[in-house]
Amino acid sequence: MMPSSPLPPSRPSLLDSLAHAALARACAAFRQSGAEISALPPVLVDATLGNGHDAAFLLSCAPPEALLLGVDIQQQAVQAATERLASARRERPDCRVQIFCRGHQELPLIWAGLPPEERQRPLLAGVFNLGWLPGGDRACLTQADTTLTALDFLLERLMPQGCLSVHCYTGNDGGPEEERAVLRRAAALPPRRWRVVHCRDANREASGGRAESLILMERLPVSRRELRHEAFYQTPVEEV
Ligand SMILES: C[S@@+](CC[C@H](N)C(=O)[O-])C[C@H]1O[C@@H](n2cnc3c(N)ncnc32)[C@H](O)[C@@H]1O
Repeated sequence: MMPSSPLPPSRPSLLDSLAHAALARACAAFRQSGAEISALPPVLVDATLGNGHDAAFLLSCAPPEALLLGVDIQQQAVQAATERLASARRERPDCRVQIFCRGHQELPLIWAGLPPEERQRPLLAGVFNLGWLPGGDRACLTQADTTLTALDFLLERLMPQGCLSVHCYTGNDGGPEEERAVLRRAAALPPRRWRVVHCRDANREASGGRAESLILMERLPVSRRELRHEAFYQTPVEEV
């Protein structure tokens, strides 16, 4: 029998839960591989901070001493995320959190402005939740070209066993084009080096609704020889 009153929408959504599981998997792999001891602490990036839910999750599963970079183009989002992150930060005093009110297309500049010892750190995880700020200005939303600039930068830096997650919305202005652009980029990643998964609403568009989709990109583990190669993390994505 159906319940008489509907349940409140569950948070995180099904797709956000999948994204979080993939990001947590990367963090667990970092720990299990012994990189916690042998490598520099990693960087985790939330490229669309919004209300800070994803960033708070990333911080909760970050390896020790990690650096969390959060970026959003809107001051309102930065404010909301800073508030949401306050308790997560108290739980993880070992990690450093840096928040930037800038567009994620500026990530290369942001990274270049980090102290030299942090610039050397491997990138373990990155999350994009595209579109607009829930409860905010719907005219301020992510755009395919700037999303790709940020995504390309993070793809090039991602360490083996690291994961990037992109949550797309086809109901937004430009959303279908943005999803296609991200998907084209992800689908071109060489399968020898990348596992790319696309999970999409299958029953919404047929009835005139809006679909959401999640694109996960996991960089596959490499051999010890490749890991020793000092230029590995800088190698263009197409070549590895
Ligand atoms: C769906 S919300 C993100 C939700 C967030 N991840 C959370 O957990 O609450 C999308 C966010 O992307 C931001 N945004 C739009 N264009 C951006 C850009 N070029 N760079 C960074 N953030 C951008 C918006 O301001 C908005 O806050």
